[in-house]
Amino acid sequence: MTAHSMPAWRVLTGITPSGMPHLGNYAGAIRPAIAASRQAGVEGFYFLADYHALSKIVDPARLQRSTLETAATWLAAGLDPNTAWFYRQSDIPEILELSWLLACIAGKGLLNRAHAYKAAVNNNLAAQRDPDAGVNMGLFMYPVLMAADILMFKANSVPVGRDQLQHIEMARDLAMRFNHLYGQHFVLPGAMIDQSVAILPGLDGRKMSKSFNNTIPLFATAADLRRLIFSIVTDSRGRSEPKDTADSALFQLYQAFASPEERTAMRAAFAGGISWGEVKQALFERIDSAVSPMRERYEEFLADSVGLERLLLEGAVKARAIATPFLGELREAVGLRSLRATR
Ligand code: TRP
Repeated sequence: MTAHSMPAWRVLTGITPSGMPHLGNYAGAIRPAIAASRQAGVEGFYFLADYHALSKIVDPARLQRSTLETAATWLAAGLDPNTAWFYRQSDIPEILELSWLLACIAGKGLLNRAHAYKAAVNNNLAAQRDPDAGVNMGLFMYPVLMAADILMFKANSVPVGRDQLQHIEMARDLAMRFNHLYGQHFVLPGAMIDQSVAILPGLDGRKMSKSFNNTIPLFATAADLRRLIFSIVTDSRGRSEPKDTADSALFQLYQAFASPEERTAMRAAFAGGISWGEVKQALFERIDSAVSPMRERYEEFLADSVGLERLLLEGAVKARAIATPFLGELREAVGLRSLRATR
């Protein structure tokens, strides 16, 4: 087989539209996913998981706004829709139909064991409520829909955070079961969990996370960015005392945006007793220079929702060129067949 006829390695990930991401999302997920899509021989599939979001968001205007902001973020961060597949999940109805085919082979017991569902049940039990209080079927079926996202495009590798590992394993289980019952149709996906992916510290030094309320929004204005960086907690070592990089949130943040040379220079400055104020100024300048071109593009994309919509619809056409014929094959496989030629 020549290199040319080698099937491409497919990387696929879904992005739940939940508003503007923070620096931690950018360094940990967005930047590496876009870098992966630029590698030779890789086909990248990135989609807005708005059906998934619907299991959590019950506010139509917020869901729409989040979808717009999330799409604008990925494009501003450099996702190239000409080389990657970039689409909105709800534009691909084939995914929902596949989700049903998979639901019909998914054991209910398997889904009972899904972490998110189990956590909800445990919360209810602890509060002496009905075990399923507040649990909608969208939450319960979440892993099946996610398996459909992945299996529809024969993804080899799914870059996700550690919390999503179980979902990828369930997608594999369902693919194996379907292949066993109906023939080899699905590629078995693997999770890609990058150990080196930066877990950035937030303003209080804990992991940057919306649930800790300690985030720096990716597209904060330069003034807000500076203010937030200057509010990051530091230890009480005074000016001109040597400082330790190992447990410094400022250094970890700096490192995620700096070149190897800049990192080395900053390490030396720490040893040489740079003041925290100077570190913060350097960190602000480093991040601002990385983010400001993206911030401008972000604003442009946000202002052009008509153009964004067109782009997503084009992405849907490209994705459905794969999904429609594949779903046809799967329908045939399970016996959802024309009666013209009865076997
Ligand atoms: N569940 C993922 C998250 O919350 C988003 C997602 C939906 C996804 N479908 C996917 C990720 C398919 C990878 C592959 O982050």
